[in-house]
Amino acid sequence: MSNTSSPSPQTMRAWIYNSTNGGIEKNIQLVQDAPVPFLSPLPKDSIVVKVHYSSLNPADYKFPELGLPMRALIPTPASPGMDYAGVVAQTGNAVSAFHVGDEVFGRIAPNRYGTLGEYICTKLDGCALVPEGVSLEDASCIGTAGQTAYQCIAPNVEEGDKVFINGGSGGTGTFGIQIAKALGCHVTTSCSGKNVELCRSLGADEVIDYTKENVSEVLKAKGQIYKLVVDNVGTPLDLYKASDHFLLPEGKFVQIGGEFSVSNITNIMSRQFLPSFLGGGKRNWKYLVTNNSHDDLEQIAKWMKEGKVKAVIDEVFEYEDAPKAFEKLRKGRTRGKIVIKHPK
Ligand SMILES: NC(=O)c1ccc[n+]([C@@H]2O[C@H](COP(=O)([O-])OP(=O)(O)OC[C@H]3O[C@@H](n4cnc5c(N)ncnc54)[C@H](OP(=O)(O)O)[C@@H]3O)[C@@H](O)[C@H]2O)c1
Repeated sequence: MSNTSSPSPQTMRAWIYNSTNGGIEKNIQLVQDAPVPFLSPLPKDSIVVKVHYSSLNPADYKFPELGLPMRALIPTPASPGMDYAGVVAQTGNAVSAFHVGDEVFGRIAPNRYGTLGEYICTKLDGCALVPEGVSLEDASCIGTAGQTAYQCIAPNVEEGDKVFINGGSGGTGTFGIQIAKALGCHVTTSCSGKNVELCRSLGADEVIDYTKENVSEVLKAKGQIYKLVVDNVGTPLDLYKASDHFLLPEGKFVQIGGEFSVSNITNIMSRQFLPSFLGGGKRNWKYLVTNNSHDDLEQIAKWMKEGKVKAVIDEVFEYEDAPKAFEKLRKGRTRGKIVIKHPK
């Protein structure tokens, strides 16, 4: 028997899409009778969470909009969303780390029962307790952006290292600046002029306004001083090649951002395989795909409790306004995170 707070519902409220033609925001519909994402009996390692807040990430529209290949992985009707914070509603028999009523947060991998539904089903790796003193609203921001930033930075630096974060003002960038500082690094970042103060307030030591300066040239002029580059943007396209001049020989270039287009993917792939005289670079380059990790979620939440890392929230949308939240996200100008507040 699983542990449960109330009889399991058969259906739930959810934003769902059947198609993404013309953009997900034009297609998602709010329904009250979506299927629930859990079976009865509940698999023994599963945790059902009633979602109170979810936060959006570019992948929440990019993946569904890939079309047919994605339909094979995520059949429709499907609900978008990966990041959540809420309250445990039910646990499988083998779950000992969480109990019904616990406040939890985390990330689920893209699937047809996303976090814009009333309930989600997760496992330990994508779930952690919300520490006392941290709000569910703030905790809902960590899942993807926080873990991604942590996984790009923490394994690749030591205290005192210099890090360049390309794109410091979005979801991944605002977490990245603060995580690198919490690890004792010197941080240089880039953003447009209106976000320079935000990046500085999060601890960035140097900020390059990409609308006024050539990022690659500014960095090249500094010499080989950086241990790590985290590229949250994908432009300028010559940044990787230029990193031969500003990354230490043992330094790493970790890419996460970029447009999902054939030309961009070809450009990114060529970095790894082309010799330097054909445009390839000399430095260690890696495309990072975010993995759910209970330990990483816990570490970021601990820093949040200690005041070393905070959630930067651009705007909180009411649940009914989810399409407007996607419209804003798609503009690519988000300062920190976009959060969606679910009805009680
Ligand atoms: N590989 C993975 O597993 C993974 C995981 C998470 C995210 N991602 C990808 O990483 C990218 C960033 O994600 P995100 O959540 O941070 O997105 P986001 O929050 O939507 O990023 C918006 C921010 O990007 C900044 N920006 C736009 N163009 C820029 C430029 N040329 N230089 C510097 N900053 C620029 C904007 O600042 P300004 O307004 O100042 O320009 C804005 O603050 C996306 O492409 C996302 O799909 C990949």
